Amino acid sequence: MNTYFDNAATTFPKPHEVKEAITRCLEAFSANPGRGGHRLARQAEALVEEARREVASLFGRRDPSWVIFTLNATDAINMAVRGVVQHGDKVLTTVYEHNAVLRVLFELEREGIIEVKVICPEEEEYTPEDFVPHIGRGVRLVCLNHISNVTGKILPVEDIARVVKTYSDALVLVDVSQSAGMVSLQGEDVDLIAGTGHKHLYGPMGVGFLVVKPGVSLRPWRVGGTGYRSEDLFQPEEMPYRLEAGTPNLPGIAGLLAGIRWVRDKNAFAHDQSLLERFANGIKDTAFMWYRPKRGIGVVSLRHPFVGVQELAMILDSEYDIASRAGLQCAPLVHKKLGTFPEGTLRLSFSLWHTDEDIDFLVEALKTIDLMFKQGGGGVV
Ligand code: ALA
Repeated sequence: MNTYFDNAATTFPKPHEVKEAITRCLEAFSANPGRGGHRLARQAEALVEEARREVASLFGRRDPSWVIFTLNATDAINMAVRGVVQHGDKVLTTVYEHNAVLRVLFELEREGIIEVKVICPEEEEYTPEDFVPHIGRGVRLVCLNHISNVTGKILPVEDIARVVKTYSDALVLVDVSQSAGMVSLQGEDVDLIAGTGHKHLYGPMGVGFLVVKPGVSLRPWRVGGTGYRSEDLFQPEEMPYRLEAGTPNLPGIAGLLAGIRWVRDKNAFAHDQSLLERFANGIKDTAFMWYRPKRGIGVVSLRHPFVGVQELAMILDSEYDIASRAGLQCAPLVHKKLGTFPEGTLRLSFSLWHTDEDIDFLVEALKTIDLMFKQGGGGVV
């Protein structure tokens, strides 16, 4: 029975192929890529370049030298935002961002560098028109979450990006933390794609990426050794060296490459939809309130009228060994929009490992808890 339902935080377990790729890298060629002409360094570098090509092709991009490996999505977002904005710029964003975006933007606003405008749609759905009145002079960057880590909602980021590009020369950054490996993002309107390897790409933690549209110039926010043009005391202009300083996480990149290849032909989205329908049927007669978007992935946010979300998570953990995440999930603004701030929600998030039986087990646990609290019971099942 797979009772791990915290896959929006990080997918677990990792595929055998990922573990094998990491081990093979560590055992066979864990030399420093790009720093040395010997066979092992060349082998390490070849792996990094192969992974760059794989990440580029995930987003329909042709030039892998514009793929930068980072620590995680937060690192990639810092690299993108700090590399782009200048004093006096305005940045537009959505209520669906997590703190990986919000804290970067609000820190820069507090430092007096940028002005942040969080666009909140009237209706549940964002439409490109929500952005149109705000695009214009001074807007340098628009930051959009592709999929909410709280509700699983899929945002129409390609449509919004198209409209932003039609009316302005602002750059568009899309955070694909929850969508990479799940919902594709194609097209040329998105300038910057920031993501991480350890969620639906099934890679290890500690490796993420920033995909930059060729021609978009970013100031490096981290400078240092690249193994390229070592005679130059300044950061090289050429990509990926301009942004990628320091020894990369080679075993992590090996794992990410294997993870992308593993997930590629699996149709994770269809799998999630079938689990979601089974879950919906299972809990329909309970008092659980589900903040279900019109179009979403297997990230379920729930509340119960008679029991708090932290207690729910605790009961699930202690009585059923079910892993969930309760609270604000690092995304306070979406909870304000949902009316679930400050307590947040109980979040349950699915993965490719889950079967119908796993969902049934989860549903039975929730139904037992529901019944107990409806009957006025305490916290012991
Ligand atoms: N952003 C991650 C989550 O949603 C950590 O849990």
